Amino acid sequence: MKHNSNRRDFLKTTALAGFGALILPNSLFASHERVVKKVRLGFIATGLRGQGHMQEMLKRDDVEIVAIADPDKKMLAMAQKLVAKYKKPAPKEFSNGNNDYKNLLKEDIDAVIISSPWEWHKEQGIDAMRAGKIVGMEVCGAMKLSDCWDYVKTYEETKVPIMMLENVCYRRDIMAVLNMVRKGMFGELIHGQGGYEHDLRGVLFNDGQSPYNSGVEFGEKGYSEAKWRTNHYINRNGELYPTHGLGPVAVMFDINRGNRLLRLSSFSSKARGLNKYIVEHPKGGKEHPNAKVKFKQGDVVTTQIQCANGETILLTHDTSLQRPYNLGFRVQGTEGLWQDFGAGELNKGFIYFEKAMKKTHEWETTEKWLTENDHPLWQRYSKDAESSGHGGMDFFVDNTFIECIKRNVEFPLDVYDLATWYAITPLSEMSVENNGAVQEIPDFTSGAWKNRKPVFGFDGAF
Ligand SMILES: NC(=O)c1ccc[n+]([C@@H]2O[C@H](COP(=O)([O-])OP(=O)(O)OC[C@H]3O[C@@H](n4cnc5c(N)ncnc54)[C@H](O)[C@@H]3O)[C@@H](O)[C@H]2O)c1
Repeated sequence: MKHNSNRRDFLKTTALAGFGALILPNSLFASHERVVKKVRLGFIATGLRGQGHMQEMLKRDDVEIVAIADPDKKMLAMAQKLVAKYKKPAPKEFSNGNNDYKNLLKEDIDAVIISSPWEWHKEQGIDAMRAGKIVGMEVCGAMKLSDCWDYVKTYEETKVPIMMLENVCYRRDIMAVLNMVRKGMFGELIHGQGGYEHDLRGVLFNDGQSPYNSGVEFGEKGYSEAKWRTNHYINRNGELYPTHGLGPVAVMFDINRGNRLLRLSSFSSKARGLNKYIVEHPKGGKEHPNAKVKFKQGDVVTTQIQCANGETILLTHDTSLQRPYNLGFRVQGTEGLWQDFGAGELNKGFIYFEKAMKKTHEWETTEKWLTENDHPLWQRYSKDAESSGHGGMDFFVDNTFIECIKRNVEFPLDVYDLATWYAITPLSEMSVENNGAVQEIPDFTSGAWKNRKPVFGFDGAF
């Protein structure tokens, strides 16, 4: 009983830490002293990404994984195997169909991590907030613009916080560049670029035989994301996955915290990559039924965004042609320019500071600059992050989620970021549909962006 009433108090005060109630930003509030409190977690969806989060959480002694929900018993079994590997108690399972997660929400848990297919995010996120469970939400774009308002309204009604689990914001090179932006090394920011430029053909047509390039099947015959993601490429055309590219730039540009996204326009190229892949694959061919499928999603979709403080942002979605991985970041100000060419390594990009380098029209490689400006959070935690997913950034996003809950401080990527970033998808779809017509991006903060202060990555923050 005592345990439960403590938990209720904990949730009550945690909910109070939401926007409107908490005035102090993380930087003034949080300390890195150890806080002894266990966070009781549930997982909604234990597919490949859910298992990635579980692995991060299983390494910690301040988290108990209490319950897991997924209609796919194979994925649940893989998740249980992971728990056993870390010699932790087996969580209670909820596997009775798509809605069994609602029963997980009745359990005595503080928070849930949601890593389900995109079409489930809104319903599950809102049900979780309404059940009083703090939410860590995986990335995607909204199915409808109204979904974004639903997140905001539910948060404002319930005051149950939701964190946008955008791991790329924590990439080491990106945090070093953020550090340099904050030191003023780029001068006044003018333009940013980012995107999702990742050949997903082996993910979209994965039959589970081997993890990659393993077939031409999707839907019922597909494995992992091929079960559901490929359908979006048949029925939609737009910036389907905006947050990896936009999130880091939005943080640097203080979006929703002194700046905001005003409007966008998107164009989509023709769609050729997926059909060509099926036709040329040894398990496919011209006569394969999937060679008849019409893919609506253009191979390369570009989205231009205008910001209130006069900057522009260019996003690129490029996932169905051959290409090496690169999210294509670029940060350009009056005093400098950075272009990324790798997957987070400090030495894989190019950088230019005319005055500081005392030369013109000549790039330098990034290694020296980014190493000298390594972000304090990376310096503090690089050992912990060493073995973590996606080059260490998964450690940071999950650590932030847990430490903010334990310390009762606001999430650095909150419901307003989630709504704004998710909104890019339906707005870009509308724009593509209407020949690039400009779409206004709603102000989900209802004017509060003018006074909200940046908190991400400041000293003392997580
Ligand atoms: N941040 C990152 O680096 C990153 C990487 C990969 C995926 N993702 C995101 O994570 C999410 C999941 O992707 P994934 O790769 O794990 O896909 P996946 O297909 O491997 O896993 C999805 C899981 O959701 C389960 N599921 C389906 N309906 C459900 C329901 N109603 N209730 C509970 N579970 C349900 C499926 O059975 C499956 O196990 C997506 O939003 C994806 O975009 C993020």
